[in-house]
Amino acid sequence: MLLEVNNLTVCYDKAMILNGISLKVDTGELVSLVGPNGAGKSTVLRAITGLVAWEKRMKRGTTGGEVTIEGDVLFEGKPISQTPAHEIVRLGLVHCPERRRPFREMSVQDNLMAGAYLFGGKGQVQDDLDKVFQLFPVLKKRLGQVSGTLSGGEQQMLAVGRALMSRPKLLCIDEPSTGLAPLMRQEVFNKIVEIRRTGVTILLVEQEVASVFSLTDRNYVLSSGRIIAQGKGDDLLQDEVIRKTYLGL
Ligand SMILES: Nc1ncnc2c1ncn2[C@@H]1O[C@H](COP(=O)(O)OP(=O)(O)OP(=O)(O)O)[C@@H](O)[C@H]1O
Ligand SMILES: [Mg+2]
Repeated sequence: MLLEVNNLTVCYDKAMILNGISLKVDTGELVSLVGPNGAGKSTVLRAITGLVAWEKRMKRGTTGGEVTIEGDVLFEGKPISQTPAHEIVRLGLVHCPERRRPFREMSVQDNLMAGAYLFGGKGQVQDDLDKVFQLFPVLKKRLGQVSGTLSGGEQQMLAVGRALMSRPKLLCIDEPSTGLAPLMRQEVFNKIVEIRRTGVTILLVEQEVASVFSLTDRNYVLSSGRIIAQGKGDDLLQDEVIRKTYLGL
């Protein structure tokens, strides 16, 4: 098992945001985590990739209060709950955060290089860049452009490209389609399928349930900090309660 999360619980002050989450992602899978706004999807990704533990150490919950995190996260069988976020990236567990945030003042090239900062060797970095350009030719054309002036879709591509420069074994992508027009959304989903074909395992957080379920191997439905259903898209879509209550269909 590439990723195993057991009984993950996160509290900000007294508010329990995640309440005993367990999930698994096997090597090569494309798995989604879906659910309504505020369900805790981003918190799951931030907890897995060491950012909640960082907030706890820095006492930097957005409320400035206490952060508690419990449960086990195993990556390639090794516990990483105590591993700092930058080390987790180095292990190959890479987070592409929500609301695409490339460093806006930096060029496309510098953003991509920021993703490669953990890996030395000019030749290697060039190889990785070439792979990203193959996937996103538009980034090559816009290498010198200031990232903040890219279109929304291009910024999303850049965010994913930057994450790929960190050589993910497991890429966690948070709502890549948000705010994009339907055509661009489809384009982003196509790219995700392509990335998966290159051998990268993917955990995808999304709200676009209908499109996402047609791409994934398995899915988890999160609601109020709990996994309330899991399985193949077709099966989940047949459950009337899940459709109406949690997927807004
Ligand atoms: N650092 C924090 N401090 C305090 N509360 C937080 C913090 N981060 C998240 N929360 C709260 O946790 C809950 C879940 O937030 P989260 O961002 O994980 O939801 P989400 O499922 O990703 O929602 P969305 O679909 O809107 O992105 C929300 O009520 C949010 O206000
Ligand atoms: Mg979110």
